[in-house]
Amino acid sequence: MNFTDGMLKEGSLKGKNILITGGGTGLGRSMGEYFLELGANLVITSRKLDVLQETAKEMMAKKGGEVLALSCDVRDIAQVESMWSESVARFGEIHVVLNNAAGNFISPTERLSVNAFNTVLDIVLKGTSQVTLTAGKHWIANKQPGVFLNIVTTYAWTGSGYVVPSAAAKAGVLALTRSLAVEWAKYSIRSNAIAPGPFPTEGAWSRLLPGDLVKKFDPAKKVPVGRVGEHQELANLAAYLVSDFSAYVNGEVMTIDGGEWLKGAGE
Ligand code: HXC
Repeated sequence: MNFTDGMLKEGSLKGKNILITGGGTGLGRSMGEYFLELGANLVITSRKLDVLQETAKEMMAKKGGEVLALSCDVRDIAQVESMWSESVARFGEIHVVLNNAAGNFISPTERLSVNAFNTVLDIVLKGTSQVTLTAGKHWIANKQPGVFLNIVTTYAWTGSGYVVPSAAAKAGVLALTRSLAVEWAKYSIRSNAIAPGPFPTEGAWSRLLPGDLVKKFDPAKKVPVGRVGEHQELANLAAYLVSDFSAYVNGEVMTIDGGEWLKGAGE
């Protein structure tokens, strides 16, 4: 089987306008490219407008569809609200929000400053909550169905040392996902999460790990299937969860990690 082939049929996301926070690089970008290939239009946001604009240009050239690049720091509610208004003005409606923006420091917790700790909480939990509330209020006021897909990690429920603010914040995002799945289903708004394991991206590990550690780091070592994930594998799952094929999936967190977190628990 070729993992670079997508899972869904062409046109599976036709007519869907999808907002991706942290959509300019890494996994956010890969998921976005596949959504485009399946017929969606995208809004991609992050703090780096130059990176987003370049990504949008490349995506449209490669995959077609419309990609709107908007600068937005998810920690700032004024920026979130104006990003949302511009997105709706451009596309008429946004049907799906993929909360993917994150920040993380690998560090002994006692060495983190309060500001560093709060920075991660603010990006991950406050940022996701602000985007979610802005979109949810709009959808409910306009009697518009919607889909949230939130990126978490397995340490949201196992806990993990050395990424404590991220673990605390992702646990919060998971609770947000499940709680809104219950409360907002009556408005035809679904909420699900994905917990990805090791998927290499251009910068995350080298930014997170000190130079000597990153050289020795083998991300596949703890993975029962013996390898890291391919971006297309994550994109397949994400596309399913934002598509109408998953209309009955609500409040679920789907782990895609080759069994990594269970190996940690069982061996
Ligand atoms: C400890 C650090 C630090 C570091 C910065 N700080 N880098 N503390 N270790 N490596 C401190 C600063 O000194 C400051 O505190 C505070 O954090 C805020 O720093 P800023 O530079 O002002 O932050 P900001 O510009 O807002 O940038 C946020 C960011 C940035 C998180 C630092 O890198 C970012 O946005 N990254 C996004 C990409 C990312 O991190 N992705 C990882 C997600 S992947 P003081 O006290 O000095 O003011 C992931 C997968 C899990 O999470 C993998 C687990 C293995």
